Amino acid sequence: MRFHSFFHKESSTFTYLVADNRSDEALLIDPVDEDVTRYLDYLRDSRLKLIVAIDTHVHADHITGLGKLRNLTQCVTQIGAESKMQCASARFSDGEALRVGTLDIRALYTPGHTDDSYSFVMPDRVFTGDTLLIGGTGRTDFQNGDPRAQYHSLFGKLLRLPEATLVYPGHDYRGNKVSTIGQERDYNPRLHVANEAEYVALMNALKLPTPKLMDIAVPANLGCGRH
Ligand SMILES: [Fe+2]
Repeated sequence: MRFHSFFHKESSTFTYLVADNRSDEALLIDPVDEDVTRYLDYLRDSRLKLIVAIDTHVHADHITGLGKLRNLTQCVTQIGAESKMQCASARFSDGEALRVGTLDIRALYTPGHTDDSYSFVMPDRVFTGDTLLIGGTGRTDFQNGDPRAQYHSLFGKLLRLPEATLVYPGHDYRGNKVSTIGQERDYNPRLHVANEAEYVALMNALKLPTPKLMDIAVPANLGCGRH
């Protein structure tokens, strides 16, 4: 397997590329519109063929690169079955395997940050989108976010993965790149709650400012970034 992560500074977004060595087929997770040229350069230099680009959820803080990538590479674009993004060429649902060469990658429905949030599980790692961040969890106060649902996604799904599983989040604002399920269980303050009610109270007390780009990004992203 080949793996590479890209970082979009303005929105602190991670975009992940995973590729199958045998078929040279590649998958991009959470591409950013402004960085599409970077991805295409990397794909060309590595002699990889992009066949699928996916979003973990409809983003509020950056414009998705799905539409531009589909136009430029004819890749398949995918989003969760629950999403209001109408323009994606296909959908995944809970438990579904994504087809990228011989890669073993499975969609795991982890709602809470939004009602269309997914994580992607591979044998040694998980891409957690904005459900589980390093030392944090994604806010639950817009886009049909729900702290109760997020509690169950975290404690009932993600924390049940083996503790050595590498955690690759959708964002990081403090310079971290990777964690593990065990580290997050032990050191993530958001996960040190006694029960669902405590988690809901913690999330509802956050009072975060609205993302700068939200009024532009959400409508654009429902149209795959409007390309
Ligand atoms: Fe998000």
